[in-house]
Amino acid sequence: MAERNLDFDKVIDRRGTRSLKYDFAKRRGMPEDVLPLWVADMDFKTSSYIEDALIERAKHGIFGYSEVQTPYFEAIRAWMKKHHDWEVQEKWLVKTPGVVFALAMAVKAYTKPGDGVLIQSPVYYPFSGVIEDNGRKVVSNTLVLGEDNRYHIDFDDFEKKITEKKIKLFFLCSPHNPVGRVWTREELTKLGDICVKHHVIVVSDEIHQDFVFQRKHLVFANLKKEYEDISIVCTSPSKTFNLASLMMSNIFIPNRDLKHKFRKELDAAGTSQLGVMGLVACEAAYSKGEEWYQAMLSYVADNIAFTKRYVEKNLQGVRMAEHEGTYLVWLDFRGTGLSTEELERRMVYGAKLWLDSGKIFGESGSGFQRINVACPRSVLSEALDRIKKAIQE
Ligand SMILES: Cc1ncc(COP(=O)(O)O)c(C=O)c1O
Repeated sequence: MAERNLDFDKVIDRRGTRSLKYDFAKRRGMPEDVLPLWVADMDFKTSSYIEDALIERAKHGIFGYSEVQTPYFEAIRAWMKKHHDWEVQEKWLVKTPGVVFALAMAVKAYTKPGDGVLIQSPVYYPFSGVIEDNGRKVVSNTLVLGEDNRYHIDFDDFEKKITEKKIKLFFLCSPHNPVGRVWTREELTKLGDICVKHHVIVVSDEIHQDFVFQRKHLVFANLKKEYEDISIVCTSPSKTFNLASLMMSNIFIPNRDLKHKFRKELDAAGTSQLGVMGLVACEAAYSKGEEWYQAMLSYVADNIAFTKRYVEKNLQGVRMAEHEGTYLVWLDFRGTGLSTEELERRMVYGAKLWLDSGKIFGESGSGFQRINVACPRSVLSEALDRIKKAIQE
């Protein structure tokens, strides 16, 4: 049967589906009727091949403990090879119920309470959450917004922070949420060489690896043999195929000792097998989802271009950071002259929009808003019109 879920213009009512994005505004302190473009899931139906695989499995009616067999790994292997030119080995794989969970396990496995863990703010806020909640300290090698409207890495500061704060663990976000960078080979190599030199373990969160628009995504561990030895690469079909609530991610740890330590933390946390639906969905996604993925990616790319044109033409004082990857667009409102509080008020109560306020990604995100453009174009257009009105108020 052919792929059926290719109409990305279709507005699908997600209310009343236990959706975090749509059903919890009031409980999270937002007006009931806000239009949500915050949390990173898509308003598109996933591939019909995944839908069908889940329905078929559900009809079996027995949901006992489950594990994967060779076809699961084969599907991942083929995807990583085709899309990222990366040869993964089955013995590297550890499955976890999500990438944030894996980040937390890495903190426990590779650092001690009180240690610093390095991040690059502004960055996906659970990075600092899992560090602080586990009694470690956040150290930021803060990204620098250049004249070219792209974020850059201050490599001197990166190395200085590592030596001064005795860093043993670094969380790389690649592609970077929220600033939309897809790191170049040169950038990744500079980072990697510094980490190798100072024996820093790199957790490379590559959950957005399939959303790259201008250049190829490079898997950190795949760049040099030495990097493979210090890497924990976090992947998942959850962003690519909109499966976040199925709670499955594939973590690759080529170094045996690092893998052993990681596994021990999983055991200590009491986790073993994942839910069968997530496993079924992952296998179907990577083995049958190509057509849907390509069509979705092209739609999202057009939404990004649409947003860029709109911002340039209609949103005075707002700049969109040069966008290379992810479906999360980073808008700089500082040129509007509005204070962070006033900007916030106008977005939520004026525009009736639920975006992610930039400051939750770190102090350097103040004055920015992150907008999720993985939605039908009509919804995106409505949201941008509302922003325009709200800043002209
Ligand atoms: C960089 C990054 N890592 C991890 C996650 C979430 O991963 P999970 O839902 O698998 O915990 C997100 C979701 O937005 C993300 O942007």
